[in-house]
Amino acid sequence: MSKPIYIINGPNLNLLGTREPEIYGSQTLADIETMCVDTAEENGLSVNFSQSNIEGELVDKIQEAGQKGAAILINPAAYTHTSVALYDAIKAVEIPCIEVHLSQPAARESFRRRSFVSEASMGTISGFGSKSYLLGLQAAIDLLKS
Ligand code: DQA
Repeated sequence: MSKPIYIINGPNLNLLGTREPEIYGSQTLADIETMCVDTAEENGLSVNFSQSNIEGELVDKIQEAGQKGAAILINPAAYTHTSVALYDAIKAVEIPCIEVHLSQPAARESFRRRSFVSEASMGTISGFGSKSYLLGLQAAIDLLKS
């Protein structure tokens, strides 16, 4: 069995479904996980899906992905805009990392315009709601198949 694609979710994404649905939509994180698992399975791949509100746990997950995973899809949530630790962790692993966001941070408050994670990632998909995850996952799958 090939290595899983790690899908890593940051703070407050456990609240999807009820959290500002006008921005983030009505799907829960469990709904998004199901969509991602199904898409990966259709392509003969698996995912390791996780969420944490704690920055250091996200660093641990990225390090684990570097050892055990084939690629990373990450929605770092608010840590996108603040975390040198996530930037360093992504830089430290050799597998590709794709950043995803439900909303389009660049079209929101000015503090969301900087992404430390973009600066360490291969590409970013944002603004398409839960479909951002599927587009990002498809990019990861294509990379792994090429
Ligand atoms: C987010 C965008 C971030 O700016 C925000 O802090 C989040 C969610 C998104 O998926 O749109 O928590 O990453």
